[in-house]
Amino acid sequence: MTDTLEIEINRIESSRLNDVDFENLPFGKVFTDHMLMCQYTNGQWSAPKIMPYGNIPLSPASSMIHYGQSIFEGLKAFRTEANEVVVFRPEKNWARFNASATRLCMPEIPKEIFVEGLRQLINLDRAWVPNRSDSSLYIRPFMFATDALLGVKPSETYMFMIILAPVGPYYPKPLHLKIETHYTRAAMGGVGAAKAAGNYASALYPAKLAQEQGIDQLIWTDAKEHKYLEEAGTMNMMLVIGDTLITPPLTATILPGVTRDSFLTLAREAGVNVEERRISTDEVVEAAKAGTLREVFGVGTAATIANVVKITFEDQTFELPAIETRKISPAIGEKLLRIKKGQEEDTHGWNITI
Ligand code: COI
Repeated sequence: MTDTLEIEINRIESSRLNDVDFENLPFGKVFTDHMLMCQYTNGQWSAPKIMPYGNIPLSPASSMIHYGQSIFEGLKAFRTEANEVVVFRPEKNWARFNASATRLCMPEIPKEIFVEGLRQLINLDRAWVPNRSDSSLYIRPFMFATDALLGVKPSETYMFMIILAPVGPYYPKPLHLKIETHYTRAAMGGVGAAKAAGNYASALYPAKLAQEQGIDQLIWTDAKEHKYLEEAGTMNMMLVIGDTLITPPLTATILPGVTRDSFLTLAREAGVNVEERRISTDEVVEAAKAGTLREVFGVGTAATIANVVKITFEDQTFELPAIETRKISPAIGEKLLRIKKGQEEDTHGWNITI
């Protein structure tokens, strides 16, 4: 392994690793020893620096706080049986990060800083990559505006950072989802296809209302008619009706998920009939009543494959077939995980070894 990008590294004096209970990892609460920082000023990115994980100084007038120029990514590293550390499809996340940056009027980040930066950071903190089968190292690259200015305009300065978190499962149990027909996650022409921080903020209140009714998360529908399914919570969603795997097509209101793309690729290769098309609430209700709605699940980096066991639509709740009876989500989900962990041949060249 050679380091092609010169990164100044300021190491911690003593690691916090031994304080961590790797048998009971929560999602996103424990962070590794180091983080990466890189500043954008005068139209260019400075050399990235790796330093001890910790708080950062920020002007209270920082435009990210007031006007929300803030984007992020999520990807994972795994420890293989051969004790190597591999990261799944970082270039795909880099490309999506830059698409989000363009939509939020922020500068693109060079591949070298994003991919090589995370590679060197993970290499430094490689002892933190869990080896339990339900755990991984979650990688969170993010960028935010740092101009101290209350005028509404694109910032001229930005901070790019990467932090790392050893994580356990995102959803500890299967989900009960409600089809949301009042609130909207994204509208055509909006920022739904970008991984913008504000998308997550605006989803909190509708999700909280559902959670007060004992429901875990929402299935978002289109902003115009509230008739077509879009995403499930913070995930892309997939259904199996009969023997066909169906998922909403990638429009301007749907995040182009890396797990979505990987899952569909493997499903097609396994001979599954895949349809990327609109799915109406009527179709879901009819299939649930007819017993042909065999599987519903969310796919995302954090959640991987999240099984849905109940769907509420208006005043009706449908119990879905038992998870043990499902075929496509467990088979393809398992294959995807085996590839990520180096247990199965990576024929697509998705993994990079750290
Ligand atoms: C993901 O990485 O899958 C996410 O969307 C992050 C989630 C924790 C909001």
